Amino acid sequence: MSSNVRPESMERITTIELANAYIEEQIAEVRAQVGDKKVLLALSGGVDSSVVAALLIKAIGKQLVCVHVNHGLMRKGESEAVIDMFGKELDANLIYVDATDRFLDLLAGVSEPERKRKIIGAEFINVFADEARKLEGVSYLAQGTIYPDILESIKAAEGKKAVKSHHNVGGLPEDLQFELVEPIKLLFKDEVRVVGEALGLPHAMVYRQPFPGPGLGVRCLGAITRDRLHALREADAILREEFDNCGLAEKVWQYFIAVPDIKSVGVKDESRYEGWPAIIRAVNTKDAMTATIEEIPYEILHKITYRITHEVEGINRVLLDLTPKPIGTIEWE
Ligand code: XMP
Repeated sequence: MSSNVRPESMERITTIELANAYIEEQIAEVRAQVGDKKVLLALSGGVDSSVVAALLIKAIGKQLVCVHVNHGLMRKGESEAVIDMFGKELDANLIYVDATDRFLDLLAGVSEPERKRKIIGAEFINVFADEARKLEGVSYLAQGTIYPDILESIKAAEGKKAVKSHHNVGGLPEDLQFELVEPIKLLFKDEVRVVGEALGLPHAMVYRQPFPGPGLGVRCLGAITRDRLHALREADAILREEFDNCGLAEKVWQYFIAVPDIKSVGVKDESRYEGWPAIIRAVNTKDAMTATIEEIPYEILHKITYRITHEVEGINRVLLDLTPKPIGTIEWE
């Protein structure tokens, strides 16, 4: 499938049967395209790259080489989940790169949000390219491009102004120009999820909330430090656990914690205890262009506040962000 235009006749994939038919069609196309050559994939663990990985494992097995770059800005347990699912369960050819130090060293002292994004995006390409150069006989690069990405780039080409620079795998250096394999590029997100389910991926992976490419880097506000990043990751894990427990995870499009670089005075064990605030953000949206605030019952907010302030070292307050988009963007940076 080389055209970037979705034919009007293409039926919307809403059922497992339709998804299975699509998968069979793509398996045949990918096999015809790549023959016995190797295909490289940056596997972030997001819905799109996970679905592409599962589809290509089915189509070409060990000819697919997945590279999972842990930039040190993943949520708690995320890289482990990628290793468990793809490395162990699906027995994929998976290269795991822990590049935490590379990223955090480069980001040290950098507080300007766009510079942080650019550093993370560029270093991601550097790490990925370093791994690609070590491999032999790779001719293709698989990407989890989906139809809205194609529509977005058409808009960008028409000169519409971007609010933030988004991060993806594009822009590999000259010596690493591969032919592309993009088996879900004509699908909308809801269709990608149905295809993921048909491929047998776990519900939690297929319905995972969106997570920005720069990861927790744009939620650890200002200059990132390891201790504040750690506190953010732990607080975020508690928020996710409590949203799972009370059913809000199913209702809310995106929810997370941001931790700013400010400290306030608190008291713990009868002593002064300075700490950062954890800011809760929970939004609903259809297309991420506008967003509304999801109400969280007070008893749940109290429980989350209690747990975060008692279980996470360095956090002494919990705040709730009630700002819709516009005026706030969904992420803080
Ligand atoms: P904003 O903050 O612009 O975010 O309102 C809109 C949606 O996009 C996600 N986001 C990103 N996704 N790479 C991504 O793949 C990025 O660099 C990026 N930055 C923001 C954000 O989480 C929200 O869902």
